Amino acid sequence: MKYGALFVAVFCTALTGVVGLENGVARTPPMGWLSWERFRCNTDCKNDPENCISDRLFRTMTDLVVSEGYAAAGYQYINIDDCWLEKERNFRGELQPDRERFPYGLRNLADYVHAKGLKFGIYEDFGNYTCAGYPGILGYLETDANTFASWDVDYVKLDGCYSHPRDMDRGYPEFGYHLNRTGRAMVYSCSWPVYQIYAGMAPNFTSIIEHCNLWRNFDDIQDSWSSLESIIDYYGNNQDVIVPNAGPGHWNDPDMLIIGNFGLSYEQCKTQMALWAILAAPLLMSVDLRTIRPEYKAILQNKKIIAVDQDPLGFQGRRIYKHNGIEIWARPITPVQQNYFSYAVAFLNRRTDGTPSDVAVTLKELGLVYPGGYVVEDLYENVNYGLLTPSTKIKVKVNPSGVVILRADLQPSFQKYRPVFPPQSTYDPYQVFQVQRNYF
Ligand SMILES: *[C@@H]1O[C@H](CO)[C@@H](O)[C@H](O)[C@H]1NC(C)=O
Ligand SMILES: *[C@@H]1O[C@H](CO)[C@@H](O)[C@H](O)[C@H]1NC(C)=O
Ligand SMILES: *[C@@H]1O[C@H](CO)[C@@H](O)[C@H](O)[C@H]1NC(C)=O
Repeated sequence: MKYGALFVAVFCTALTGVVGLENGVARTPPMGWLSWERFRCNTDCKNDPENCISDRLFRTMTDLVVSEGYAAAGYQYINIDDCWLEKERNFRGELQPDRERFPYGLRNLADYVHAKGLKFGIYEDFGNYTCAGYPGILGYLETDANTFASWDVDYVKLDGCYSHPRDMDRGYPEFGYHLNRTGRAMVYSCSWPVYQIYAGMAPNFTSIIEHCNLWRNFDDIQDSWSSLESIIDYYGNNQDVIVPNAGPGHWNDPDMLIIGNFGLSYEQCKTQMALWAILAAPLLMSVDLRTIRPEYKAILQNKKIIAVDQDPLGFQGRRIYKHNGIEIWARPITPVQQNYFSYAVAFLNRRTDGTPSDVAVTLKELGLVYPGGYVVEDLYENVNYGLLTPSTKIKVKVNPSGVVILRADLQPSFQKYRPVFPPQSTYDPYQVFQVQRNYF
């Protein structure tokens, strides 16, 4: 088998666990709302008070995350992105938020978010400037970590503009050290690998996993299907390097959810949600929660797909089949029994021929071989297929640029099993995938 060596590597990882950042947070991929993709660097509060990056925008979104049911579905972090800062530090050398747009300061905003039962995230940059040209943390690592702790920040995204990628192997861990020293547990989101990849360097994922809770591997998402497809392809084409790095406390971040914005169709939005769950991705919505249409809100709040994303084992899924525009992606999940895992399986149709494509495959052909069978459920259509044996053929119709996502659980009598991480098994959860011929 082509990926024999990889399977050995994955297998060892599954057995021993990667040495990750042990700050107690992000044990499952973080979920929340982040301003960037939808609201960008709009600082014009005079002419566009409703949409500018301001105290008002974040309070409004905080209220809506709670009142519209997102918090109950698991979305927890309210995260500011770039463009919150004054252009100069204060006389003590500390960062300060823009005085007009954040007149009460960020501690006050954090208190508001916390009073609603949510958590508060912030953005900075490892270099001399943020990507939009505000002060970066270079030269002020300890000061800025202390400032964030004093504001009761729960999550820090650290970008990489205006810095040297070769300095990052030292700089990102150093800032993580200062965050840790504050005594306040903060999720640490790093842009370290993506800048190094752009610079032609091979990121040291051993170190990245040790120091970051999540990290970006690839381009910023834009509001288009082509952007989403490029991300899906990147994660599929590079999965041998990427997938083994994910696990509780340390996640690959394919970037924000753009569901409910302007660029994706309904089917394409369903595809992003399903694929992000397979990828064990952070679920950070970037959408205007004041105007989102109900069908998109329903996608973002799909509890069954969120449960796949948040599966406690923390295994990232893989693309196990790709031919003629049809892809199959699968992720090992709980419940687990001895040598067998349950799976989430997504069928993706990248064709553009305007009519749904039929996909028919037996569970066994997907590698789901547990003799007792699996209870199979469609996570969008609310259809339960009941208990299926490995030789049962599943038939699905997949819409163009759309997805069908199923969950195949080991049969109910085995659900009493309490999962442990890593699974106490000599079994490689990915090795079962055996889609070896072109079915479709
Ligand atoms: C950051 O600024 C310092 C001081 O001006 C300069 O020496 C350094 O080269 C700058 N670093 C980058 C990455 O531009
Ligand atoms: C700091 O690091 C230590 C050692 O990894 C860890 O046990 C502790 O929880 C961390 N504290 C915070 C606040 O991140
Ligand atoms: C990668 O990081 C690890 C852990 O910090 C370190 O032990 C190792 O030497 C690094 N590898 C390379 C190639 O620099």
